[in-house]
Amino acid sequence: MTGREAVTRRTVIAGGCVVAAAAVAGCSSGDQAAERSSQKTLGSTSDIPVGGGTVFADQEVVVTQPTAGAFRAFSAICTHRGCTVNEVVDGTINCPCHGSKYSAADGSVVTGPAQMPLPRREVTVEGGSLKLV
Ligand code: FES
Repeated sequence: MTGREAVTRRTVIAGGCVVAAAAVAGCSSGDQAAERSSQKTLGSTSDIPVGGGTVFADQEVVVTQPTAGAFRAFSAICTHRGCTVNEVVDGTINCPCHGSKYSAADGSVVTGPAQMPLPRREVTVEGGSLKLV
């Protein structure tokens, strides 16, 4: 082993101790970093039309913008039988399977057969990007 390798190993071990200590102590900067990394970027706020919305099928979320700058997010899974909603048109979030429609403003049922509203999801806006919390 060369001196350089020894220093590198000590550095790695020391770095690991810092991470472990922070985890045990509940270090707030570590918590904040973990929180940021758990947020998934959905796209740009400009991807969401005012008065409409966008379905992010892979993330199972639909984001609407009923009025400029006011974003709402809901589960994209229809509460009727679990299809993924596929569009936001004329103020409603629509399911293609049996025709349920939900309000783009609050997720409530506008037209059945669904009986339950779409559950709310949380998104944040950071520098023009939408992040799913
Ligand atoms: S699963 Fe959506 S309306 Fe039936």
